[in-house]
Amino acid sequence: MEKLTHQYQAIEKEFSKQSSGWNQPLPLMLVELANRLPLRSQDLVLDVAAGSGLVSLALSTKVKHITALDATAEMMGQGKAMLENLGVHNITFRKGYAESLPFDEGSFDVVITRFSFHHFLEPGLAFKEMCRVCNNGGLVVVIDLISPDDPMTAHTYNYLEQLRDMTHTRALTFTELEQLFKETDIQDKWLLQKEMDVEDWLNFTNTPASERSQITQQLSNELSHQTTPTGFSPLLKNDRLKFLHQIATIVGKKIP
Ligand SMILES: C[S@@+](CC[C@H](N)C(=O)[O-])C[C@H]1O[C@@H](n2cnc3c(N)ncnc32)[C@H](O)[C@@H]1O
Repeated sequence: MEKLTHQYQAIEKEFSKQSSGWNQPLPLMLVELANRLPLRSQDLVLDVAAGSGLVSLALSTKVKHITALDATAEMMGQGKAMLENLGVHNITFRKGYAESLPFDEGSFDVVITRFSFHHFLEPGLAFKEMCRVCNNGGLVVVIDLISPDDPMTAHTYNYLEQLRDMTHTRALTFTELEQLFKETDIQDKWLLQKEMDVEDWLNFTNTPASERSQITQQLSNELSHQTTPTGFSPLLKNDRLKFLHQIATIVGKKIP
């Protein structure tokens, strides 16, 4: 419990700092997600660790109502302002934690989360909670960064992610994420690679200089074949250092 409280404090500090960066146009991956999920106009949705509500916004025209729950008030503040500007009225923000969702069993038709599991200390507990508040036959959807399968590379990958943002705990591998869904009926799953610019990525989190140079150095070393893989698959494009984030989506149907 103490560990969780400590992590919640770290999360709130980090994402209060990051919050202005989360007021952004809808990314294409979320437009595609909203088109791919079998959503119905009567659906009640819970977006867990919703941040500024980008996932909620993407789903908002397809469903009845979305509850956007998050640990960080500033992230939700950005979201409220953004939705007011856009005239979106079927999303309600609520403060809360993924590991103890403040809802009754079977309250939602769809329970979704993006880019949150790699911040959790207990992803298994959060997943259990997501399943509990989902109704039988409803959808549980997790979208997250994933670690490389090779344990050594995964270790390096997570170490570098933590250097950039200390609230990164560990990204699961695709197999580990899939394992969480074992008691659901998996309906769909896919992987996508997102190209990221290293400097922009480090600016987003305002990572301190010494950590920035360590990360950049390791990726550059891998590019020039001087080190073992980092799991970031670095590349050079127009003289800029880039890398590929691996993002998994798994859609499960809750079975009684
Ligand atoms: C990287 S942001 C992603 C926001 C949003 N899901 C999206 O995809 O745009 C991660 C969010 O998770 C929230 N968060 C992290 N751990 C949490 C927890 N245990 N319970 C609730 N929210 C949490 C943070 O406050 C932050 O807003």
